[in-house]
Amino acid sequence: MSQMSRDGALPLLRGGPGDLLRALGERALRLPLFYKILIANTLLVAAGAVIGTTLSFRAGHQLSGEAYYRWRYAYILLFATGGTALSALIYSLLVRWALRPLEQLQEAAEAIRRGQFNVRVPPHPFRDAQMEQLVETFNQMVETIVSNSERLHWLSQQILQAQEEERARIARELHDEAAQWLTSLLIRQRLLLRSLPPEMRPEVEELQRMTTAALEHLRRIAMELRPAILDDLGLVEALRWQAEEFQKQTGLSLTLQIQGRIERLPRQVELVLYRVAQEALTNIARHARATRVEITLNCSTEHLELLIADDGVGFDPEAVRRSRARSLGLIGMAERLALIGGTLEIDSAPGKGTRIRARVPAGGPHCLAREVWHDERRTEDPHPDRG
Ligand SMILES: Nc1ncnc2c1ncn2[C@@H]1O[C@H](COP(=O)(O)OP(=O)(O)O)[C@@H](O)[C@H]1O
Ligand SMILES: [Mg+2]
Repeated sequence: MSQMSRDGALPLLRGGPGDLLRALGERALRLPLFYKILIANTLLVAAGAVIGTTLSFRAGHQLSGEAYYRWRYAYILLFATGGTALSALIYSLLVRWALRPLEQLQEAAEAIRRGQFNVRVPPHPFRDAQMEQLVETFNQMVETIVSNSERLHWLSQQILQAQEEERARIARELHDEAAQWLTSLLIRQRLLLRSLPPEMRPEVEELQRMTTAALEHLRRIAMELRPAILDDLGLVEALRWQAEEFQKQTGLSLTLQIQGRIERLPRQVELVLYRVAQEALTNIARHARATRVEITLNCSTEHLELLIADDGVGFDPEAVRRSRARSLGLIGMAERLALIGGTLEIDSAPGKGTRIRARVPAGGPHCLAREVWHDERRTEDPHPDRG
């Protein structure tokens, strides 16, 4: 019963003729498309029959027999074209309006494919029950996708954070424990060497070389896991160190440019940008077959931007994104950046090299754009040539 009154069945009986018409109109709009066309068709045929018969009847009366005979084809033509045009117009409007929700669904699906998850299909007055059900299901599906992707996003960020903490812990352990042991071993070997007769020394010297190699190896692993230089000296110095290591290991030419004045940034920002550079350089060494690499760290008034460009073979980022066997390097970069409100842009195509652009909101005292920094220096030191 309550359903009926909500549908407007009772107001139909209670209200005046205006209400009645409005309620009938609303119901007609919500009829399935099949009935809308059937009703429109019946009305059109009935109207055509009545008007056509009346007009021919009147014409037959008013015109003399000869005139009627002469103009009969014009009459037929007039009715045929007028009737056809009118029905085509009415049907096309009707079908267009009735199918508008489908168009809206398609537009919304397309927007969602592009990643605009805030899109929903709005209510439409011409929507029948089936269409309404379809739209409702669609909107619910979008809600589910949004909440799933938010959850996935949150989970991946938790994993990244846990991984970062674990790396820091292992690096600390290697540095503070294992490396200390090896260092004491070296010292003992040195002492031992002094007290040994010369013929026994080569053996201990070999031991010393092996211990030194093990220590270096261990320090490198600890540095790769979590470079102490990043925590101690900050992003700029860590990038310089990373660039040098990269050149040593790959033999590629790498230029690093720092634009603006960049001081210590929030720890999280430094770590994320460092990891982005690390992954981008690993990718270059692994996949790019490049000859030149450029890294630019640029501080503008609104953001801090890290750009890593290579002149290698390039790739199709869209294809990598779509492929099922995808690995986590590029995804990890984007997720890490999202964690600090940053964004990642990948500009690459086969044969065109690759440009990775990471942007994070910045500004404030940590990061002064080049122009601001130069102006500041000018006001601080008006006579640089004298001093
Ligand atoms: N600088 C680059 N030059 C050429 N191809 C690249 C570059 N960076 C990434 N790629 C391509 O993108 C794919 C995905 O990279 P990534 O997510 O880091 O995974 P992985 O390095 O483990 O393969 C790589 O397999 C490679 O085909
Ligand atoms: Mg990779």
